[in-house]
Amino acid sequence: MDLNQPSAYVLSGLRPTGRIHLGNYFGAVKNWVELQDRYPCFSMIADWHALTSDYADPSNVRQASFDAVADCMAAGLDPARNVIFLQSEVKEHAELHLLLSMVTPLPWLERVPTFKDQQVQLEDKDLNTYGFLGYPLLQTADIIVYRASYVPVGEDQASHLELSREIVRRFNNFYGNVFPEPQPLFTPTPKVPGLDGRKMSKSYGNTIPLTASADEIRALVMTMFTDPNRVRRSDPGNPDICNLFQFHKLFSDEATIARVDHECRTAQIGCVQDKKLLADIIIDKLAPMRAKREEIARDPGIVWNALREGNEKARQRASETMAIVRDAMKIDYPELRA
Ligand code: TRP
Repeated sequence: MDLNQPSAYVLSGLRPTGRIHLGNYFGAVKNWVELQDRYPCFSMIADWHALTSDYADPSNVRQASFDAVADCMAAGLDPARNVIFLQSEVKEHAELHLLLSMVTPLPWLERVPTFKDQQVQLEDKDLNTYGFLGYPLLQTADIIVYRASYVPVGEDQASHLELSREIVRRFNNFYGNVFPEPQPLFTPTPKVPGLDGRKMSKSYGNTIPLTASADEIRALVMTMFTDPNRVRRSDPGNPDICNLFQFHKLFSDEATIARVDHECRTAQIGCVQDKKLLADIIIDKLAPMRAKREEIARDPGIVWNALREGNEKARQRASETMAIVRDAMKIDYPELRA
């Protein structure tokens, strides 16, 4: 895979679910920030995708979308080097989704594993809808409307990208070579545990927000699960099964990691003491992002202006693609456009 061909575009997508947490950051956003120096990058907040599960009560989507952009910018996504935009503001996604729906066999969508899995996991919501079935098809439109070559995603999105490539092959077969086959970029990402040791996830309520205040971080770190076998302060601990230690690996320098490892195993440092140390390290590391986020809170226009420009740039590329697609599918009428 030649990561340096100048014509390769990157499309990243984030479903807005609220403030970005450390799992989102280490699992996705950090990679996007690194990619923006190497490729032309489009970074999308997928607010239509939020509606596929939250259609009955969409009241949080606007705020979640704003927060996602604000947090991404605080984390280093730079609107000068990265096209940051809102899905629902680029209507070409919807047109391409519709056209793709004509060529997409139903069984291809029905067999995407997330379709059934999510219905079981989110059983309090009725996800037996047309929109939810079409989730990965809309995602395909999101990607290929920019003729993107690479999509940085987690393993959980592998089946969606697989579908995208199948759709592209089928489309190109019918109508000529319009789209490149998008490749997933599975950048190595550490597993970020939540406060309770399960995967950090909004739905488990075990997250640490990326731009949490110092007090918030201290309070959250105090609730972290540690080695369950270490009952008394004098018991030696096992960092390998301690949540705190996973966070040290993400945030602390080598010397601190080695010292904590040793002092935990020899019961020289207690869990509470270690939590205070870890909280201070996290607070310090995240300080620049928190400062940027506070600047945005004082002036939300920073986000709206970035989005206004990003939406415009995204529309430009997407409308070029749609002109090609309409021509390929014989559904354009040049006579009507003097
Ligand atoms: N499905 C993705 C997720 O849950 C979000 C998403 C929507 C996306 N459209 C996309 C990701 C396009 C990559 C490309 O994380």
